[in-house]
Amino acid sequence: HKNARRAGMEVVLANPRGFCAGVIRAVEIVERALDAYGAPVYVVHEIVHNEHVVKGLRERGAVFVDHVAEVPDGATMIFSAHGVAAAVSKHAQSRDLRVIDATCPLVTKVHVEVAQHAKQGREVVLIGHAGHPEVIGTMGQYDTADGGAIYLVETVEDAEKLAVCDPSRLAYVTQTTLSLDDARQITEVLQRRFPAIRAPRRDDICYATQNRQVAVRELSRDIDVLLVIGAPNSSNSNRLREVGEQMGVPSYLVPSAAELDPAWVADAARVGVTAGASAPAVLVKGVLEALSRLGVEDVREMDAEHETVTFNLPQTLLRDLRAAE
Ligand code: F3S
Repeated sequence: HKNARRAGMEVVLANPRGFCAGVIRAVEIVERALDAYGAPVYVVHEIVHNEHVVKGLRERGAVFVDHVAEVPDGATMIFSAHGVAAAVSKHAQSRDLRVIDATCPLVTKVHVEVAQHAKQGREVVLIGHAGHPEVIGTMGQYDTADGGAIYLVETVEDAEKLAVCDPSRLAYVTQTTLSLDDARQITEVLQRRFPAIRAPRRDDICYATQNRQVAVRELSRDIDVLLVIGAPNSSNSNRLREVGEQMGVPSYLVPSAAELDPAWVADAARVGVTAGASAPAVLVKGVLEALSRLGVEDVREMDAEHETVTFNLPQTLLRDLRAAE
């Protein structure tokens, strides 16, 4: 109720927000690998797109590298939550390395879809953002040995222009962290142009992405400004900011409290706060402290069901942890 507003600023926290099950698992894999095998453990790419998380793990002995080739022989090596191309995984397996895969199981699900389509002679359209590590990894699941191809489509315009070999043997998959609205518009074009195109049996946009976007859409009806705690290179955090903007609310990405510009909230009576799937709660806490210094008198949470999705750690890691105890 708008007339229930206080004179001071109020914060409403989106629900759900922050860490998803895939990020929790990936961070825990690095921590438990350090426990089981000792430092250093090597991680290919940022384990999740958050500097704060990466820094914490680096202090405990994780070493972040860009390529498998940088990992010394005999070392323990972890693939990030975003996943890697099949060739990268094969290269790592062929070397004298202990390889642990922290790829989110919901990304692996998309990998399996792509590999199956390739095997069954279908070409694949991947809807996603060029250059994102997940997209590079998913593109790299398509075996082109038999002549097929995987096409990256980023926009409605790309979908309108796309030319494929055989429209009757075609499927699409998506990046897990897309905007629900953008993805729907793009798939509508693909379905119009290629009526036989196969859709994923279950949505590739993951539960965490969907829930966070739905929450922000609802929250945006009732706030004057939206702050999204998340890193500039985090796909799902950027999408949350866009949802706020599409709802007509000025929306800002806030990597940490230090980057919060007081001008953004100067005229706001009600500030919405959410966090991307890779943004730890401690960063949200920091932003709330900064907001309270700027005059926030009240913080409340949106009502929502709790998320219950969890993913197990890899069996070999659990076994080696028990052995190390
Ligand atoms: Fe996985 Fe979705 Fe998180 S794909 S890593 S659960 S954002």
